[in-house]
Amino acid sequence: MSATASPALHWTLAERTKVMAPSAVREILKISQRADVISFAGGLPSPKTFPVEEFARACAKVLHDQSTAALQYSASEGMPSLRRMVAEALPWDVNPDRVLITTGSQQALDLIAKVFIDPGSRILVETPTYLGALQAFSPMQPVVDGVPAIGEDVDIEALKALRGTGRDAARYFYVLPNFQNPSGGMMSDANRSALADACQALELPIIEDNPYGELWFDQPPPAPISSRVTDGTVYMGSFSKVLAPGLRLGYIVAPDAVFPKLVQAKQAADLHTPSFNQLIVEEVIKDGFLDRHVPGIRALYKAQRDAMLEALREHMPEGVTWNTPNGGMFLWLRMPEGIDTSALFDTAVANGVAFVPGSAFYASRPDVRTMRLSFVTVPAERIRVGIAKLAAVIRQAQ
Ligand SMILES: Cc1ncc(COP(=O)(O)O)c(C=O)c1O
Repeated sequence: MSATASPALHWTLAERTKVMAPSAVREILKISQRADVISFAGGLPSPKTFPVEEFARACAKVLHDQSTAALQYSASEGMPSLRRMVAEALPWDVNPDRVLITTGSQQALDLIAKVFIDPGSRILVETPTYLGALQAFSPMQPVVDGVPAIGEDVDIEALKALRGTGRDAARYFYVLPNFQNPSGGMMSDANRSALADACQALELPIIEDNPYGELWFDQPPPAPISSRVTDGTVYMGSFSKVLAPGLRLGYIVAPDAVFPKLVQAKQAADLHTPSFNQLIVEEVIKDGFLDRHVPGIRALYKAQRDAMLEALREHMPEGVTWNTPNGGMFLWLRMPEGIDTSALFDTAVANGVAFVPGSAFYASRPDVRTMRLSFVTVPAERIRVGIAKLAAVIRQAQ
């Protein structure tokens, strides 16, 4: 049967679709997945760290012992035992009833946007910040202001100045204190305390996003901001970087005042996070598996970071600077005056190497001289080759 031609339909899209844009990183990923390109662009964990055998065993056990619970609809808040495990693993006193299991922490960002943002309301983010958060927040049409950094710390005085009052008051400040995406930076202990105090004094809620905190190299990061403020924060975590991102499992810890609204937003979005995935993760982690598993990820990523640092020191031309992250997956580079990393991208790919231009990670006024490099997925010997290629491209542009 052939379809009959119908008159062209005029689709009227919502205003908010005008601010929806494809993720620059996902577009770049498509280009850089070519076999001949060494890609430092991806934000993916190393597949070497996926505990495949443990998942295989847990899948069989869950299907054998709890098939109905695994395959049936379940509570929007999440499986009670997983909520309890999440609460117990956090380093402050967390009520499991205030833990909401989400479909990845990316969904947490989307729910937060729906619950807190009206069109035109102001929100504050770090400079730079996670691109996926900007993507989740922007359809709710906020005015996004970037709070400048001093080194790896938040500039508290600038934050105070940006707080605003009355209808103009910022709804929240979104922060990534540990091994930030994109910069790899880590907020100091003193800065976390100062931020906690300032936000209480300013009555400014904090959204604390912590997917990388467990991936430290030399010493654990200071305690989360959420452990220092009572009821002033919404905290987000994820199993993506310590187990596997394909599970799509994250969580929110939220105070009484906002928890029910986040649950209602979750119900509207997808009823609940897949029961099967929750039970499998529960089965895998219930006997302390993460304490045995995560040190291996830390050691692998630290060796990868060291290989990249060594290659950068060997190959980069004068004037290129970078940080030494103490954890996570990313290194942040800054080019000498006059080099825009977006303009460099096509030549780099043509020469067999890819990165993410830093501009993608700014709410406004991007620092065009920056770029993000992931050090976790490319094997060490390829890291050296890729950095040499990148250095040659930068030298050419000078
Ligand atoms: C800072 C940050 N937050 C949230 C996410 C989303 O992670 P997921 O949805 O896999 O938990 C990511 C992913 O890379 C991230 O870097």
